[in-house]
Amino acid sequence: MDEFFNWDDDLLIGVADLDEQHEACARLLERLFRVLFEAENSGDSLPSTSIAELSRLFEDLHALISEHFLEEETLMREVDFPGRDNHIREHNMLRAELLHYKGTLLHQDGGLDIKMLMRLKKWFVSHIVHKDRDFADFLKTREQLASLRKG
Ligand SMILES: [Fe+2]
Ligand SMILES: [Fe+2]
Repeated sequence: MDEFFNWDDDLLIGVADLDEQHEACARLLERLFRVLFEAENSGDSLPSTSIAELSRLFEDLHALISEHFLEEETLMREVDFPGRDNHIREHNMLRAELLHYKGTLLHQDGGLDIKMLMRLKKWFVSHIVHKDRDFADFLKTREQLASLRKG
């Protein structure tokens, strides 16, 4: 089976902490995909063990993304990043979506499927390469300016 989320260094934004968190989220999405793919190919309905594992992995993903968003947003406020409102709006859209999926997971079948994981991955990649990279570039320019002033 091909990898669903093949982490690629093209996704690095150059801020070590944030890069590590992005990679950890990608790894969890990959694990979720594998469990879901195997479960969907093993019969008509998801066995309860798969549902339990999916719920656990999804909880982990939700916690990881929530922490990551908070860290990015705190950093944005600290450095007074001008694009933060727009960036946080995108985070909030995903927060709402994750809560929705979390709700459907509780009702077992149908909530979590491969299509939903594809959407999550697409959102994630697009957010990293556009929004997170913009923020990282701002941080780097700011650091360069600060070191020029010092030097
Ligand atoms: Fe991010
Ligand atoms: Fe972000």
